[in-house]
Amino acid sequence: MAYGDYQIELYLGSLGGSLPQQPFSYPELEQHALATLTPELRSYVAGGAGNEQTARDNAAAFDDWALVPRMLRASEQRDLSIELFGKRLPSPLLMAPVGVLGICSPDQHGDVHGAEAAAATGVPFIGSTLMSDPVEDVLPATGDTPAWFQLYTPKNRDLAASFVSRAEAAGAEALVVTLDTWVPGWRPRDLASGNFPQLRGKALANYTSDPVFRELVGPDPDIGTIVMTWVGLFGHPVTWDDLAWLRSLTDLPLVLKGICHPDDARRALDEGADGIYCSNHGGRQANGGGAALTWLPEVVDAVAGRAPVVFDSGVRTGADVVKALALGATAVAVGRPYVYGLAHGGVPGAVHVLRSILAEADLLMAVDGYPTVADLSRDALRRLR
Ligand SMILES: Cc1cc2nc3c(=O)[nH]c(=O)nc-3n(C[C@H](O)[C@H](O)[C@H](O)COP(=O)(O)O)c2cc1C
Repeated sequence: MAYGDYQIELYLGSLGGSLPQQPFSYPELEQHALATLTPELRSYVAGGAGNEQTARDNAAAFDDWALVPRMLRASEQRDLSIELFGKRLPSPLLMAPVGVLGICSPDQHGDVHGAEAAAATGVPFIGSTLMSDPVEDVLPATGDTPAWFQLYTPKNRDLAASFVSRAEAAGAEALVVTLDTWVPGWRPRDLASGNFPQLRGKALANYTSDPVFRELVGPDPDIGTIVMTWVGLFGHPVTWDDLAWLRSLTDLPLVLKGICHPDDARRALDEGADGIYCSNHGGRQANGGGAALTWLPEVVDAVAGRAPVVFDSGVRTGADVVKALALGATAVAVGRPYVYGLAHGGVPGAVHVLRSILAEADLLMAVDGYPTVADLSRDALRRLR
């Protein structure tokens, strides 16, 4: 079945009398989802760093590119599959790691539900260090769909090693190390609402369930002890000197997230990384850096086919996915879109968002004459601005 067939399912459902309950445009999705969240969570999920220019630029940058329609190449057979770390994946879409996913679900098990959405769609799920359920309960919920684990490198190396080995035992197929968040960015919306979920003890299940962390906090710790211990060890300022050690923690593919400069990409591969994840954290960490999409072509050129390049930040539609692929990304991740889907409509809501993005990408590639991912190259794009 082609991803685009989702539209047939929707039209037939409407003929049968059931109009879709889920929104189709991103602004509408965001509006519905934010209405379901507490004011604190709303600012945490929707907000960005500084005056949020970079967060806005991330999404707007896709409008600078146009996919050139090509005719007389129509094909009923489309192939959105990609090869990633030796595995054939049905599509290039991934679910980016989102630390408060757990509490974006009313039952507080949003991490498990995110993984269930992965199982239902075949879109791989990247579980964050900051989960509301332990990694052992979350990653297996993806079923046959691959799950990856994202590490926020703690200051305590034993704790880092424990996280990685637990994730590996829970079925993680790759390790993503996020480099841009050893310290939280300046986020005015969260500052104004005095809000940082982890400081209220949220999303710390991987810590409180960890033997190394439990040793540090002692028996029966109160919430204050847990939070202050977490504050003390959350963010190791990772440098090149740490890379060999990070590499030694696992034989899983090691993907470095937050890389936007070609020199960083080249050196990361030289020093043992297996994948580059070009991202600016959805504009949540550093403002003023422009759109992440701006840096993607340089990073792709520097990688020069030596490793896969994952891209995220600002991807909202299937057209955005297609453009990022044409600029050279191997795989493309979404953050807020599926979080909003989950917040608004539970697992079916997240599934709807992922299927809609894939359906739009598939139909766009069909209409414009680029039936496979391999057909998408920079020749397919023109810069409008
Ligand atoms: C609420 C929220 C929490 C996030 N938590 C994490 C995290 O725990 N680890 C991480 O590497 N990135 C995290 N990110 C960044 C995402 O992985 C991704 O880079 C970003 O959401 C992509 O931008 P988009 O939201 O515009 O799609 C988070 C993003 C959001 C919106």
